[in-house]
Amino acid sequence: MKTIIEPFRIKAVEPIKFTTASEREHILADAGYNPFLIKAEDIIIDLLTDSGTSAMSAKQWAGIMDGDESYAGSRSFYRFEEMVKLITGMKYVIPTHQGRAAEKILFSIVGQEGKFIPNNTHFDTTRANIEFSGANAVDLLNEDGKRPEVIADFKGNMDVEKLREFIEATGVEHIPMVMITVTNNSGGGQPVSMQNVKDVRAVCDQYGLPLFIDACRFAENAYFIKKREQGYADRSILSICQEMFSYADGMTMSAKKDALVNIGGFLAMNNENLAMQCRNVLIVTEGFPTYGGLAGRDLEAIAQGLEEILDEDYLHYRIRSVEYLGDKLIEAGVPLMRPTGGHAIYLDAKTFCPHIPVEQYPGQSVAIALYQKGGVRACEIGSVMFGKYDENGQLVPAAMELVRLAIPRRVYTQSHIDYVAEVIIEVFQEREKLRGVKLTYEAPMLRHFTARFAFV
Ligand code: F0G
Repeated sequence: MKTIIEPFRIKAVEPIKFTTASEREHILADAGYNPFLIKAEDIIIDLLTDSGTSAMSAKQWAGIMDGDESYAGSRSFYRFEEMVKLITGMKYVIPTHQGRAAEKILFSIVGQEGKFIPNNTHFDTTRANIEFSGANAVDLLNEDGKRPEVIADFKGNMDVEKLREFIEATGVEHIPMVMITVTNNSGGGQPVSMQNVKDVRAVCDQYGLPLFIDACRFAENAYFIKKREQGYADRSILSICQEMFSYADGMTMSAKKDALVNIGGFLAMNNENLAMQCRNVLIVTEGFPTYGGLAGRDLEAIAQGLEEILDEDYLHYRIRSVEYLGDKLIEAGVPLMRPTGGHAIYLDAKTFCPHIPVEQYPGQSVAIALYQKGGVRACEIGSVMFGKYDENGQLVPAAMELVRLAIPRRVYTQSHIDYVAEVIIEVFQEREKLRGVKLTYEAPMLRHFTARFAFV
């Protein structure tokens, strides 16, 4: 059959509250035109993030009941640890309450003033944790990955030549590790090829550097490798994941993505000494090493989620459902990052509304309009999130002005997605009416979460 159906049926439902356009106008004004500040109750379709928003399976909920809450040596920890070791082959597994906690622990040890950590593209919390430690976060994405209109299989790849040049220019002694983010969230949810991971590994070997993977969406990345990279069509998702992690020395993970849970994360690595240092920080900041910042039941749900994420029928449906939304938008001429990524659609706001200059945040303007039009919550990933100021206070814009519509896992049906497409297309058809915005409040770090805006 041609129709790809959801490989699950629905056992529990949550009602959605509908709002009118005039109600949404007031809600937006109260929220300072920042979708992060809108109450979730007032959202019709919430595509702010795919993080922690998954629907858990009946078996995960059963695991929640069955979780072992022992302070030390919990059975749920050992199930979790076994699953992580099976997929990653890493020797030391350290649970944390979410991905950024794993980052905080890692970079408080390896990061400090004068250090540089290259990545294909650092996610904002990774960058913030590196910078908070005093170190510098460096993005070395390949050129195709920076151009939304270019259609290529692995736009998340690191530019290996640039990595080599960067190491030579900076001095290997200033670089504690190299990172790769799979899939590349900030660059459009684009996958990284196995060849690229191998090539980066080879450079790391040449300079004696460890390689860490930011693995939030590792299974989605593995599915793209299976479908797009020669030699992987007949391999299981598990074996592709195992191969990918075999090239790494460690990883950070937000279980809120590809472990299908609402909270959780972990750090894993092969270096015993580093693991010991990480556990020491963990005990001070998160908890005892067999629970990190989590309850036993959370570890149980993560273990089960990691098993379910490897299901190819699930991944097939997952990637296709994102592509389905992308196809509808492309057909209507809506500019977006192509090809569609693993977990989200990224509208290209610069092309969407060319009449709004980057200093007036076109992405924010599109995100506001999507909520106003249909109660759809999206997230600006452009100069609000990544913009900096130069010494004269002038905005140094982000490389791209994107608006992300991230699809929660196993949550929305095809008719919800049809509705989202209709909302976006209507906003696009009326795009000349969109107005730019200015910031009226901003925090010094991660400003997008709490910023407030007004129309210019
Ligand atoms: N790394 C990547 C690539 C991420 O996408 C995220 C989170 C993190 C690390 C941090 O994990 O949230 O568990 O602390 N991304 C979410 C998002 C927030 O919406 O893309 P966390």
